[in-house]
Amino acid sequence: MHLDEDDEKILNGEYGETRQKMMEILVALGKVYDADRLIPVTSAQVSGASYKTIGRWGLSWLKELDARAVIPAVLNPIGMPREEWRDIGGITQEFAEKQREVLEAYHHLGIRPECTCTPYYLNRTEYGEHLAWSESSAVVYANSVIGARTNREGGPSALAAAIIGKTPNYGLHLVKNRAPQIMIDLAGSDDGNSPFHHYGALGYIAGKKAGNLIAFFRGIRPNRDQLKAMGAAMGATGAAALFHVEGITPESRVFDFETEGLRHVTIEGDEVAALFEDIDADAVAIGCPHCSPRELHDIAGLLEGRKTTKPLFIFAARGVMRAHNRLIAQIERSGARVYPDTCMVVSPAMERFSTIMVNSGKAFSYIPNMCGAKARIGTLEECIQVATS
Ligand code: F3S
Repeated sequence: MHLDEDDEKILNGEYGETRQKMMEILVALGKVYDADRLIPVTSAQVSGASYKTIGRWGLSWLKELDARAVIPAVLNPIGMPREEWRDIGGITQEFAEKQREVLEAYHHLGIRPECTCTPYYLNRTEYGEHLAWSESSAVVYANSVIGARTNREGGPSALAAAIIGKTPNYGLHLVKNRAPQIMIDLAGSDDGNSPFHHYGALGYIAGKKAGNLIAFFRGIRPNRDQLKAMGAAMGATGAAALFHVEGITPESRVFDFETEGLRHVTIEGDEVAALFEDIDADAVAIGCPHCSPRELHDIAGLLEGRKTTKPLFIFAARGVMRAHNRLIAQIERSGARVYPDTCMVVSPAMERFSTIMVNSGKAFSYIPNMCGAKARIGTLEECIQVATS
């Protein structure tokens, strides 16, 4: 792999030990994946931010580092809302202190304390930009919906990219690796009541069938929020980092001609419909991935004139909440709570419930293992109905 003069100096330790370590991570990755060089990235999104997932070893590794990010960089959701951690419940003083130490360690490294899986709502991200993002749903969204380019980074490699400002040029940074690899055929009716219109549930099944292959969909017309939901679920049940939807996602036109001869898999409406089990839930959680302004608007509309009868948690990026504080107030008049910085999967707050209802295919997939609770999936309307009846 070619390194320029500056890269070499960093690798030789001339800019300090932490930069040297970070460069070693990038070079090792580049060698494994046969990258020809390092390329500049415009932003980083760093996972490994919740104390629930990194634990004390992760924290002590972070504390040893001493350098500053050279590009805009944000964090993945952490284990609690930074300020309202007592209010969300289920967070011990000890956990809160450790979580704060993680945040301070990242702050010291120049990572902004915006903890979200939807960094694209905070910083404008453009088609063709090279990024180093690590949260799987953010990666799928950046690649598929925006047409930016990022591999599915691990926490350390995203942090290394933030501190060096570069990433190895391999995988999805190269156009030749972004072509579709599997065609998803949707069988059955496509009327307004089709289960395919629940894009989180569709993504849940599609991820299982496509695995880590780049899927190409025809015959659906999801909007951006629905693409977000579908991609997040695909990234959770499979390992997708990119998919295309004919006539909808920006690169579908680029690759349309390359769909001839692809392997096909079929998804039956019944397979998706079977996910919708009618079981009692003792809490409802919305915002996986974190809510868009449009989704907050829809939730506020559905909650108008209603009161919650069971805990209703909604998650969004702090910056999005700040910019839409009237919507947040409107939602919270119902008794629901909107929290920044965290989510139903990475926070221990959700571990006290036995069944959690969600509208997200990703949360549906992760909650049983990460929260030790059963998960029920429904539409946004059904979630609000369950939370208020
Ligand atoms: Fe985001 Fe947490 Fe879901 S990180 S995608 S809200 S599991």
